[in-house]
Amino acid sequence: MDSFLIEGGIALRGEVNISGSKNAVLPIMAAALLTAETCVIRRVPDLSDVRFMGRILESVGAEVKFEDGTLTLRAANIRGFGDYDLIRKMRGSICILGPLLARLREATVSLPGGCVIGTRPIDLHLKALQALGAEIRVAGGYVYTTAPRLDGALVFLGGRAGPTVLGTANLLMAATLAEGVTVIESAACEPEIIDLADFLNAMGAKIHGAGSPTLTITGVKELHGAEHDLIPDRIEAGTFAVAAVATGGEVTLRGARPDHMGAVLDKLQEAGARIQRSAGALTIKGGGLVRPVDLTTMPYSGFPTDMQAQLMALMCQAQGTSIITERIFESRFMHASELMRLGAEIAIEGPSAIVKGGRPLSGAPVMASDLRASAALVIAGMAAGGTTQVHRVYHLDRGYERMEEKLGRLGARISRIPGE
Ligand code: EPU
Repeated sequence: MDSFLIEGGIALRGEVNISGSKNAVLPIMAAALLTAETCVIRRVPDLSDVRFMGRILESVGAEVKFEDGTLTLRAANIRGFGDYDLIRKMRGSICILGPLLARLREATVSLPGGCVIGTRPIDLHLKALQALGAEIRVAGGYVYTTAPRLDGALVFLGGRAGPTVLGTANLLMAATLAEGVTVIESAACEPEIIDLADFLNAMGAKIHGAGSPTLTITGVKELHGAEHDLIPDRIEAGTFAVAAVATGGEVTLRGARPDHMGAVLDKLQEAGARIQRSAGALTIKGGGLVRPVDLTTMPYSGFPTDMQAQLMALMCQAQGTSIITERIFESRFMHASELMRLGAEIAIEGPSAIVKGGRPLSGAPVMASDLRASAALVIAGMAAGGTTQVHRVYHLDRGYERMEEKLGRLGARISRIPGE
């Protein structure tokens, strides 16, 4: 397994191009299963999760071509079940269930397991499809769904932690081909849902209200092929922004959408960063003292759980104590103990991490446990004195396109050590 070797203490400076959004492209790839015609998606990041999703689509019979950032998908002859192990291994693959069911009226997928950040149930996905008339049976690690017909319905989709992003995506996709009108209440408002709705509308769907908690979908008989340019990855942009502040540097994020990053930019400003917006770019400048900030993760437009670990890495540098509360996933603090190996002082109290900042960090070998935890360790390694080795960076490759090359161009001393 590859690792990163990082020489810390260098301020990042320069410009970085932000890639297309990972969490937008995965459901959009699944949406291509809704039509027999060709779909073209551009600005696609070359990530292991995207390639993995491609293999999942191939396992249900779709043709997948990925070249120069463009995905060409054609689901002319597909079946309602894919490779058990592939689907089980990637949580995002659950969003093939809605499109397969809508197109073929039956679909079987393996039950996605929990993961290191929490149990990650799919009860809301199943409740949503049931509301449209699907019969669902869970047995032997599989979810079996059938629906001789799907009828529009009013579905309240809020759960324990608020709306569900991929659950909204699943229901949205299934409802496009249902009979009549579906109204989703307490729908996820994430920009990735708006991007999916834009793609579905380009395919001929009739969706209104994307980006608000109420989505209205009028079912159509069939969808056709479409072309789509993905939105930029707001989490990649946020990660580079935090890295700029943590190293006391100045980084311009080319192609970022500040309107998708409100909560993160607000916290960075509160922490002392200076932020300049101009057409097509966003410049983040650190360099002064980092101030402590408290934050609580929430559904969009609140502070994203996918940026919590990176902010924790930054708060280790702050002059004072910060309280970081995780409200979306119950065990998303695996990075805390690894940050402590670098000298951070963090105590976990229930859903909150109390970070006593200001102690100088110094390099150490650390272990990445999930995608965003890995990003936090890379940021902390770049801010620390000495050498940090981040093991198991395959987690990073799932969601950050050539991260070490992008950081290297900003001046970071970072190299990939091929694994044994
Ligand atoms: N939940 C339920 N029941 C369900 C579904 C979700 O209780 O049926 C709960 C979850 O346990 C969690 C909350 O609802 O407490 C929100 O989870 P959500 O369903 O929104 O998560 P997701 O759709 O599975 C996506 C992203 C995650 C991101 C979350 C929250 C993709 C592929 N994944 O997951 O991204 O953290 O939304 O914003 O879009 C990442 O990129 O690192 C990542 C983990």
